[in-house]
Amino acid sequence: MKLFIDTANVEEIKKANDMGIICGVTTNPSLIAKEGRKFEEVVREITQIVDGPISAEVISLDSEGMIREAVELAKIHKNIIIKIPMTAEGLKAVKVLSSENIKTNVTLIFSAGQALLAARAGATYVSPFVGRLDDISTDGMELISEIVDIFNYHNIKSEIIAASIRHPMHVTQAARIGCHIATVPYKVLVQMTKHPLTDRGIEQFLKDWETVPKN
Ligand code: E4P
Repeated sequence: MKLFIDTANVEEIKKANDMGIICGVTTNPSLIAKEGRKFEEVVREITQIVDGPISAEVISLDSEGMIREAVELAKIHKNIIIKIPMTAEGLKAVKVLSSENIKTNVTLIFSAGQALLAARAGATYVSPFVGRLDDISTDGMELISEIVDIFNYHNIKSEIIAASIRHPMHVTQAARIGCHIATVPYKVLVQMTKHPLTDRGIEQFLKDWETVPKN
């Protein structure tokens, strides 16, 4: 399973990229708003850090508006993926954009039926939200599992991005059931690097090293 980082913060993106663990970035309007900077400026900067798919989301609700925004965003860099909300208008936009070879990531997916429609419309990626389903006492990982099964069974090429990831277990569970990608907040990536036995092991190795004759 590939890992993307789910943030618009360029410092976090640099740190994750330097560790060699991510190969893409997802943003959304809320993540962009947190940075207090111009959308296009942030997206441009991200393209200079990560050489991989970078999702930038449209704001329009009608397909014509979405397509207009998408065409402008796609001009920023060849790696830009247009994030489109999962609506009937969104699907219309995805169909047009895919026929123009502009890649899309259909977002805010909360059912397997929505994922199937997005794939059939021509989405490059579909983004089911795990954490937001868990928040309303619905098993988000079960949705990932359903979509993985359906896409495998029908040989559907759209890649599944497990989104709205809240903790390390979400990542390993998504990997275990064959999800293609997880987009992970920086905080969770850092949590994944840690284990108390690793810290204890390093401490012990350094302590023992002090007893090794040096000359
Ligand atoms: C990524 O594509 C999504 O926009 C993001 O993962 C949503 O995460 P949240 O539910 O934590 O806001």
